[in-house]
Amino acid sequence: MRWLVTGGLGFIGSNFVRLALREYPTLEIVNLDAMTYAGNPANLRDVEVNGRYQFAHGDICDPDAVRDAIGSGVDAIVNFAAETHVDRSILDPEQFLRTDILGTHVLLEAVRERNIPRYLQVSTDEVYGDVAAGESAESDALCPRSPYSASKAGGDLQVLAYHTTFNVPVMITRGSNTYGPYQYPEKLIPLFITNLIDDQTVPVYGDGLQIRDWLHVEDHARGIMHVLEHGDVGNVYNLGGGNPHTNLSITERLVSGCGRAMKTHVRHVADREGHDRRYAVDSTKAHGIGWSPRVAFEDGLHSTIAWYQANEDWWRPLKSGEFLDYYKRQYAHR
Ligand code: TYD
Repeated sequence: MRWLVTGGLGFIGSNFVRLALREYPTLEIVNLDAMTYAGNPANLRDVEVNGRYQFAHGDICDPDAVRDAIGSGVDAIVNFAAETHVDRSILDPEQFLRTDILGTHVLLEAVRERNIPRYLQVSTDEVYGDVAAGESAESDALCPRSPYSASKAGGDLQVLAYHTTFNVPVMITRGSNTYGPYQYPEKLIPLFITNLIDDQTVPVYGDGLQIRDWLHVEDHARGIMHVLEHGDVGNVYNLGGGNPHTNLSITERLVSGCGRAMKTHVRHVADREGHDRRYAVDSTKAHGIGWSPRVAFEDGLHSTIAWYQANEDWWRPLKSGEFLDYYKRQYAHR
């Protein structure tokens, strides 16, 4: 069995590659990654020595790079390659459209041309948009509200259209907010943990009462693997963590977990433009094929804090150079 994983140097992708090589003793993985700011070779340093793992440097928007990575053929493509950060999509939308829509199109064309038996698109619950009450089902209309989520929705619609029009064997997973080791420190949880370790304040957008549903990255990676194996072609599967919390309550846990105080370490800053108040997905369909999250939230958060405390060598280099420019652009005016 040989899979092409794209964006495998990113957060969810690298956790997926590590897990898949462990779970399937004969599986070979080719990882096509453009090595953007979030594609970090250090995320898979331990895997590089595995003879069943091969790295290919390239962009999913480049048909030649995709063709070369497929080589003599693969049994599946799992697409993690994406621009993923909402705040960056507000500052610079164009790259999101390129990677998340055009890149998806290039991969779908390759699946079609080479008759690849499975294509799995890793998507997000953000494509449903703000959910005031209840939970989004896979059949709900998409209502994305940021350039990021609109780009991911555009990718999802292409994937489903290729199934309808060309009978390409696709599946989509829509995971909820993911946390755990190897997450680039621009997202809420790793940004706050690393700031707190450094005795800095953490910037809470607006009132902090926005709600996200948190999913541990290992559960997310396992869910994608499970859908790839047990899902039905042409279908979408929500993967929700089942841990809805306000940002403020996450902040309280992180602040106390890092031995700091709310009074001294939390700063309420201007809200994100078009900030979605709440995401919530109904994961009944994924539960129906036998997937459910295993990591208890308190344990997952505790071990994530411990991981960042123990792995300063991993994140410290990331919080320099490009990151500092971004941090200034993103937070200085707030
Ligand atoms: P984020 O990790 O960016 O994920 P997403 O926007 O894709 O859900 O943000 C999670 C929540 O945390 C979101 O409601 C925005 C909020 N947030 C802050 O309050 N401050 C921050 O500095 C960041 C990065 C996020």
